[in-house]
Amino acid sequence: MCGIVGYIGNQQAAPILLDGLSKLEYRGYDSAGIAVYNGEEIITAKSKGRLKVLSELTHGGDAMPGTLGIGHTRWATHGEPSDVNAHPHMNKNESIVVVHNGIIENYLKLKKKLERKGYEFISETDTEVIAHLLDYYYKGNPLEAVTKIMHRMEGSYALGIIFKEHPDQLYAVRKDSPLIVGHTDGGNILASDVPAVLKYTRDVYFIENEEIVRMTDAKMEFFTVDEEPLEKESVRIEWDVNAAEKGGYDHFMLKEMYEQPKAIIDTFSPRLKNDGIEIEELNMSDEEIKAIRKLVIVACGSAYHTGVTSKYIFEGLARVSVEVDLASEFRYRDPIFEEGTLVVVISQSGETADTLAALRESQKRGARVLGIVNVVGSSIAREADNVMYTWAGPEIAVATTKAYSSQLIALYLLAMKFAHVRGKIDKKELMQMVSDLKKLPDQVELLLNNKNKIQKFANRYLAAKDVFFIGRGIDYAISLEGSLKLKEISYIHSEAYAAGELKHGTISLIEEGTLVAAVLTQEDLYKKMISNMVEVRTRGAFVLAVTNEGNAEVEKAADYTVYIPNTNKYFANTLAIIPLQLFSYYVSIGRGCDVDKPRNLAKSVTVE
Ligand code: F6R
Repeated sequence: MCGIVGYIGNQQAAPILLDGLSKLEYRGYDSAGIAVYNGEEIITAKSKGRLKVLSELTHGGDAMPGTLGIGHTRWATHGEPSDVNAHPHMNKNESIVVVHNGIIENYLKLKKKLERKGYEFISETDTEVIAHLLDYYYKGNPLEAVTKIMHRMEGSYALGIIFKEHPDQLYAVRKDSPLIVGHTDGGNILASDVPAVLKYTRDVYFIENEEIVRMTDAKMEFFTVDEEPLEKESVRIEWDVNAAEKGGYDHFMLKEMYEQPKAIIDTFSPRLKNDGIEIEELNMSDEEIKAIRKLVIVACGSAYHTGVTSKYIFEGLARVSVEVDLASEFRYRDPIFEEGTLVVVISQSGETADTLAALRESQKRGARVLGIVNVVGSSIAREADNVMYTWAGPEIAVATTKAYSSQLIALYLLAMKFAHVRGKIDKKELMQMVSDLKKLPDQVELLLNNKNKIQKFANRYLAAKDVFFIGRGIDYAISLEGSLKLKEISYIHSEAYAAGELKHGTISLIEEGTLVAAVLTQEDLYKKMISNMVEVRTRGAFVLAVTNEGNAEVEKAADYTVYIPNTNKYFANTLAIIPLQLFSYYVSIGRGCDVDKPRNLAKSVTVE
C-alpha cells in the first residue's frame, strides 16, 4: 500500500516523480504529493484524490523546478485521505522531508515523546512522526540521523528522505516494505516497485531489510543500520516496458484478461521439457517429492482461491494431503508441521504482509517453503527456500486476472509433476494432460472473444443487489473467485457458496430475480448441482450456468447458459473463470465504477 518515488540527477525531478507515481497508483490512490528542492528551499504540493489532481496542480511538474525530489501516492491507514494527511511530511522548519510506505506501529508512543519535547503535529499520520524524529536526531550528519530513527521505529517502512542542508543527496531506507533503486541516465531513482523505473533503467537493486541507500546524481552507496558500507549486485529486469501501459485497451483489467493466453504459455513453456515436466526451481529430487506427506498452502484473496482449487487437484491427482489457509489466519494459529510438510505460499506481488509473515513463521518452525510468485525479486521471492515464478508480467489492475490464471498453471504443473513422480499417473496420462494444458491458451482466447454476449448479459444486472455463486469441488473454488471479482470492482454484494451448503441457511436470501451463477464443470457432480439449481430457481432465482460443452441437460435448470470448451477436469477453472471475469468487468463499467482502481483497495497489501 502506498507508493514512493525519488529522483536525484541532471533532469527536472517533478515530471519524473509524477510519471513514476502514475505507475505506482495501483498501490494506493486516495491522495498524492511531491516535494522538490528548488535550489533554495523544499517545496511541496499535495492533494486529496487521484494523481491527476496533483498533476494539474503542478502543471505536470513544470511548476516545481528542481533536480532533487520525492513523491508519494497514498492508501490511507492513519488519518483520512486529505491534503494535510497526504505525504510528503516535513519537520517544522521545512528542512527535512519524507515519504513513507508502511506503518510505524509505535508512532503514538514516539509522538507523545516528541510532543513532550515541544514538537507540534499537524497531520494524523504516523509518517509525520518520522519527519520530527529525524529533526530530533539530525545534528548535521544525515546518515547518522537515519540510523538513529531506525533503532527507534517499530513496524514497516520504505522511506525517501531529503535534507535541505545536503541538497546533493537523496536517502532511502527499507524495513518490511518494498524498495528498489537504480541508476538512470544522469541520475539515480528510487521506487516501491519496478514499473515506476522501467522507463529509466532495467538494472535495479533490491533493497533488503534495514539497508540504507545514499544517492547523489552520480553515485549510489549502500549501508547497514550500523553505517557499515555494503556491496550490492543489481538485477536485470526483462519485462517489456509496454507491459505496464494500457496499449489501446480501455482498462488495464481488460488488457490483462486478454494477456491471459500469453501468461499461461509463458508459465508452462519453460517447464515442459523432455517429454515431461521439469521444475528445476523446485530443487527437489524424486525421492524428496515422494517423501512429501502434506502440503500446506497459504495465501490471501484470489491467490488463496488458486490454493483452494489446487487442493482438489493435489488430493485427487497426486494423492497428497493438502491444508489450505488464509495467510491472515494461518499466522495466528499454531499449525502442526509433521515430518514431510511442504509449505507453498502463493502471491502475485510477493509483498503481501500476511503471506510474508506466514512464510517466515513456517521457516521458523523448520518447514521448507516454496513460493509461487509473480514479481521477480520481491520479498517472498527472496525469502522462500525455492521460488517458482509465474510469468504473467506486470499486473496493474487491482483485480487480478492474468496473475491468477498463471498461478493456476504453476499449481497444475506442480500437481502433475507430483502425481507422476509418486506413481499416481503414468507417462501416457501425464502426456495427455500436457496436451490438454497446451490447448488452454487457445480455449481461453475463444472464451474472451465471446465478450459481447457476456456484456449484453451483464447489462441486465447493473442494478443487482445481491448475487450468489455456487459450485461443488473445484467449482466451489471457481465460485469464490467469481464472487470476489464481482464484488471488488462493481460493489455489488455477492457471496460464494458450496452448493450443498446453501440450504443450511443462505437460501433464505434468495428472492424473486436474485441472480445465482452456478458453475458445473465436474461431470460427476452435475446431477447434484442441477438439484441445487432447481432449489434456488423454484424460489425465484434467475440461474446463470457455466458448464462444459455438451452438458445440454443443464438447460432444464438454467435460465442462461455459458458453455466452456472441454478440457481435463482438473483444468476447468482456467476456462470457467473467463466468463465470470468478463461478467464482473462489464457490470463494473456499466455501473460507472473505476474498474482498475476500485474504492478502498490497493494492489499490494503490505499492511496486516
Ligand atoms: C483480488 C486480488 C487480491 C489478491 C490478494 C493477494 O482480485 O487481487 O485478492 O489476490 O490481495 O495478493 P498477492 O497475490 O499479491 O499476495
